[in-house]
Amino acid sequence: MSTRNSHSAKRAASQRTGRRRSGPILAFALVVVATVGVLAIRQYSGMSESIAAETGAGENKLNIGGPFTLVDQDGQTVTEANYSGRWLLVYFGYTYCPDVCPTSLTRNVDAIELLGDKGDLVTPVLISIDPQRDTPEKLKQYVGLFNPRMVGLTGTPEQIAAVAKEYRVFYMRSPGDTPDSYVVDHSSLTYLVGPDGKVAQFFSHSASPEEIADRLKQRL
Ligand code: NI
Repeated sequence: MSTRNSHSAKRAASQRTGRRRSGPILAFALVVVATVGVLAIRQYSGMSESIAAETGAGENKLNIGGPFTLVDQDGQTVTEANYSGRWLLVYFGYTYCPDVCPTSLTRNVDAIELLGDKGDLVTPVLISIDPQRDTPEKLKQYVGLFNPRMVGLTGTPEQIAAVAKEYRVFYMRSPGDTPDSYVVDHSSLTYLVGPDGKVAQFFSHSASPEEIADRLKQRL
């Protein structure tokens, strides 16, 4: 047996002893770490689990949403109080978005139209996550293409960052060929905000107009 091997054997033996002594403590620590880990994962994955549900819709269990100060498509400063008493179907996106935003906004308008007269109770909203390019004028032109009742909101980069944080919206610029041709990667949930200003529910990008309309019917 070489010296090296015997050293290894001794180390292995002492490790075994050590493991035996600290076993209960280690086991306890592992249980604590595992429990905390599972709780943290549950908390943060709750939303994506809900989104993954077949309906593509989820209840708001995470206290998403909150107050905001933004600028509407007419250049007026507005807060959540301007919309109290109304149902809002809110989407975060931007007018230069090549495909995802137009698809989601069209889908949201279709869902509202499926409600017939009751659809008048729900206002479709686009909050821009590209405030540098989405001026009120630009937004006004854009939202009008989807529905004359659609509200477009923009603001300073700080105001947008604040509302995105409240709604846990992710957005990040990816550089384009020229400084003005960048795209903005962003999460694409739609939020149903109740007359109390609170997010009642959210819908994933994959939810159909029929699914959203069904959920809305249950609440209106
Ligand atoms: Ni988009």
